[in-house]
Amino acid sequence: MNKTILVTGGAGFIGSHVIRLLVNQYPKYQIVNLDKLTYAGNLENLTDIEKLPNYTFVKGDIVDRTFIVGLFEQYEFDAVIHLAAESHVDRSITNPMEFIETNIIGTVNLLHAAKQQWEEDYSDKLFYHVSTDEVYGTLGATGLFTETTAYDPRSPYSASKASSDHLVMAYYHTYGLPVVISNCSNNYGANQFPEKLIPLCINNIKHKKSLPIYGDGKYTRDWLWVEDHAIAINTIFHKGKHGETYNIGGHNEWKNIDLVHLLCDIMDEELKQEKGASRELITFIKDRPGHDRRYAIDATKVKNELDWVPSITFEEGLRATVKWYLQNEKWLNNVTSGNYQKYYQTQYTTPSK
Ligand code: NAD
Ligand code: DAU
Repeated sequence: MNKTILVTGGAGFIGSHVIRLLVNQYPKYQIVNLDKLTYAGNLENLTDIEKLPNYTFVKGDIVDRTFIVGLFEQYEFDAVIHLAAESHVDRSITNPMEFIETNIIGTVNLLHAAKQQWEEDYSDKLFYHVSTDEVYGTLGATGLFTETTAYDPRSPYSASKASSDHLVMAYYHTYGLPVVISNCSNNYGANQFPEKLIPLCINNIKHKKSLPIYGDGKYTRDWLWVEDHAIAINTIFHKGKHGETYNIGGHNEWKNIDLVHLLCDIMDEELKQEKGASRELITFIKDRPGHDRRYAIDATKVKNELDWVPSITFEEGLRATVKWYLQNEKWLNNVTSGNYQKYYQTQYTTPSK
């Protein structure tokens, strides 16, 4: 079926993988990528698909309500896959207001515009909100987050994402807007901005810089390969039930220090350097304030109801990720030098001759 789908945040890490999957797999879908191109938005993530006829890029801010309403009128979207967000916990601690604006106000602007545009006939419409496991707060040594775990966010980032999830459900219950939410664990893979643990360590090892480990390093995360997340989003988009939430995770828990040890060993092999060289860069530093001790997802629902399971092991995914960063030196250099922000200028605003 033909559809016009608004994907927000498509120039970011996960959004770019979702866009690539959709434009390649569904030539009849028109995919409109709306992105503000903050520091985290990088159009170089999408150079392989940017010329495809079913892809359009629009630069814009989800916080600008008038602009968003106009965009819905212009494109008459059938569906929204909403990924745009401020996504880095440490930045939310130093600058919470941007998180409140983008993650909460931005989400309600999209909900509002979708409701206005669709309310006469909701059939075949969908608002898909991409969220995080961080809304559930923190776990002790045992237990898993399920879809019925009470929300208990503890950072400005997770509190803003929890608020957006509640607003999405409020539009479902109050106005009947067809919605679905997924809450995913930590993603890793190609194109992740090197402020997040894995690409930061890869980049630092490359440059023989220290590997900063917060606190005692025994904080635990459940890691999922980003392309498996994109497949899960595609599955939920097509098969998920309205008004439901789905947890997505890798059944793949790692203490940060163990993960960094594994990463160091892979880097030593890939860089053909002496085993143990990278581990020497590990430095324990001051902890993140309010640092959640452990996240772990129970992904039984999405497995049993929608038949989604991760496709690769962590060892495979991490090695592929390391190889990608080592082979894509230009991408990494452009990101770390800031040059990637010039891409929009040359690609989209230079007049054709
Ligand atoms: P990211 O920071 O890499 O990308 C976010 C994108 O949103 C960027 O392209 C940025 O330019 C855009 N954006 C930010 N503010 C905007 C605004 N006001 N208007 C329009 N665009 C704006 O983030 P990510 O890691 O790809 O995460 C994408 C989504 O998935 C987020 O909603 C995040 O909460 C969620 N999520 C992320 C993870 C993870 O591990 N990275 C896990 C679970 C859920
Ligand atoms: O769980 C899903 C979440 O995963 C997403 O919602 C967020 O958008 C995403 O950023 C990620 O959040 P985390 O805070 O878990 O990811 P980050 O890579 O920042 O940190 C992973 C762990 O590593 C965490 O326990 C903090 C620690 N850490 C991180 C950095 C950047 C360090 O010890 N040192 C570091 O330098």
